[in-house]
Amino acid sequence: MTEYRMDEAHAGLALDRGVQGILGRPLDRIDGRAKVTGAARYALEHQPEHLVWGVAITAPVGKGSIVALDTANAEAMPGVLAIYAGDEALPRQTPVFGQDRAQPYDGTIDSWGEIVGVAIAESFEAARAAARAVVVTCAREDGIFATRDGEGDAFGPPEGALLPNIVKGDLDRAMAEAAVALDVDYSTPRQVHAAMEPHGTIAEWHGEKLTLHCSMQIFRQARPVLANSLGIAPEDIRLISPFIGGGFGGKNVSADALLAAVAAKRLGRPVKVALARTQIFHACYGRSDTYQRIRLAADAQGRLLGYGQDSLVSQKVGANSFEPVPLGAIALYRGEHRSFTTRVAPVNLVAHGPVRAPGEAVGMIALECAMDELARELGLDPIELRRRNEPESDPTTGRPFSSRRLSECFDEGARRFGWDRRERRCEGEWLVGHGVATAARVNFLADSSARVTLTREGRAIVETDMTDLGTGTYTILAQVAGETLGLPVGSVDVRLGDSDFPTGAGSGGSFGAASSASSVALACEDIVRELAAAMGATPEEMTLKDGHVIAGNRRVPLDELVGDAPIVAIGTIHPGANNRRFSQAAHGAQFCEAWVNAVTGEVRVKRMLGVFDCGRILNHKTARSQAIGGMIWGLGYALHEELHIDPRTGAIVNRDFGEYHIPTNADVPQIEAWFVEEIDRHANPVGAKGIGELGISGAGAAVANAVFDACGVRVRDMPITPDKLL
Ligand code: MOS
Repeated sequence: MTEYRMDEAHAGLALDRGVQGILGRPLDRIDGRAKVTGAARYALEHQPEHLVWGVAITAPVGKGSIVALDTANAEAMPGVLAIYAGDEALPRQTPVFGQDRAQPYDGTIDSWGEIVGVAIAESFEAARAAARAVVVTCAREDGIFATRDGEGDAFGPPEGALLPNIVKGDLDRAMAEAAVALDVDYSTPRQVHAAMEPHGTIAEWHGEKLTLHCSMQIFRQARPVLANSLGIAPEDIRLISPFIGGGFGGKNVSADALLAAVAAKRLGRPVKVALARTQIFHACYGRSDTYQRIRLAADAQGRLLGYGQDSLVSQKVGANSFEPVPLGAIALYRGEHRSFTTRVAPVNLVAHGPVRAPGEAVGMIALECAMDELARELGLDPIELRRRNEPESDPTTGRPFSSRRLSECFDEGARRFGWDRRERRCEGEWLVGHGVATAARVNFLADSSARVTLTREGRAIVETDMTDLGTGTYTILAQVAGETLGLPVGSVDVRLGDSDFPTGAGSGGSFGAASSASSVALACEDIVRELAAAMGATPEEMTLKDGHVIAGNRRVPLDELVGDAPIVAIGTIHPGANNRRFSQAAHGAQFCEAWVNAVTGEVRVKRMLGVFDCGRILNHKTARSQAIGGMIWGLGYALHEELHIDPRTGAIVNRDFGEYHIPTNADVPQIEAWFVEEIDRHANPVGAKGIGELGISGAGAAVANAVFDACGVRVRDMPITPDKLL
């Protein structure tokens, strides 16, 4: 068993020798075939015997209280087994980040579509009909249905928040003394998670033990929340989530899991509850809208004296987590006068929770558009402006960077994109322009354990309750184990998404790959030491390759060194002092070519290109997929995504994918993602940094800046829809 805490730079791993040449290779996903053939079973595809269906019943007011729940008609419908409604064992909504349990039903309603019950029937159709037949009578009250309306009661970051308010120096004075000062307001709209797989759970009880076939990203966080909400011990809950059909912060404990668990217990039968798309929009958290004041104070050469990103966001009443808008800005550019503050307005709207790249996804749109504005005021190339503001160390904390290759990203990106050859021009009625922006995303490490078993047959089994959101976790962990143990990837079985396995990092905050890969690597190193002992050699004298152990003049098949009992090792990584000693982030440079139609205002993105610095790349194919997925999302934030709230009721108007626009293939242009690699040993043993949330950061700004370059219209209220350009 090896436990390692990141209190200093890690000395390096056996896999650094790269003997197998597996790590980093752009291998296809090892779970890909199972997924495309339908063999991979997602949460809702299990078929336990005696399964019944549950459909959530929701409240049709944005604020008020329940006067009556008339279930008589619903109960009498054919196939209906039970209606559980108006019952304090049921959750009102999905718990949000920072809440240790779901708020129980108590007859009050604080946002449209809160859950008031669940209808259970022998078929999905019967359950859905019954849920609709329940008459929910509410007393309506006036609610706060817009962030600006809640501004009077806004509060600052609570004690212990991930991101406290930061004010250094005197930005007002710097603004007054600056050769060029820019003070502009940007806004981004409310946004929803758009995972293809809906939130859904199948709950089964075996005595006092609960099993949930679920779609959850981070078991370590989910289990206690479920236990507190249900009033049972965490050890009595088993979570099974081997495949997840997309999770971007939203696949945590959702209401369906609690409804299914409660109903299954009472009925003594397994229960499946999936939220309908419109229910997901209303009962699962999304991203707050943001109102950002960006201030940039620069000298005549474009060096920042200081800058600020001060924002208003909102959160549903009763919760205090918030969108950390300036997260990407804090360590980004030089300047001693700095202001990064956030105010949170309480509202009666669907809760805010983590959505891919909390903070940077929307904060970097505003900051990086404003940087483009500043470059134009100064008459400077926007890449040159960023170069002149590259800090030596984190200007807010004074800490050194664990690694930072932003300048190289711009060099490489400019070369590949042809930045210096770009040309503003007209093509018929199309105006063509180019934009650039910085990407940044903080880097985290999370506690993670993994067990690796080397069997007599020469197979390695990797087990951790880490999840794979579709990001490629199965594959990279097989690569890490294969590289270290000298086995082909096909000889490694990776088992994930079962809380019976050692507790892993889970997927979130872009910490999943580095954290889980580190724990797997540490476990494998343990095994290497054991094999070395069996060979009478030191690990350094030994080479593991192609299923053989080579030391001196001996070459022994791996399985000969494994006795009847397999070799089992557990590796555990913990974050340590390096989180505080270093400023850690992944970076990138985003480029875009956009065409704007002078007649219709339509924007067509033609090319996007990103170059990213995210430490060691564990698999170039899955890494690239993560990066371009993020870039496409960024394109959507610039041009498409926007929730509209009915100001009378607080209901979301565009609550399906017909009306909530996300990029589709026709919107997605030629996209390239490249990496400048570096092994960041201050971050974690494998030296990788987070990728998942980096691609979205700055991507929208590159699009917006290209739009401005094309047509000269600066839209500061996202998304850039045609009406705003004409
Ligand atoms: Mo993420 S927003 O932590 O999946």
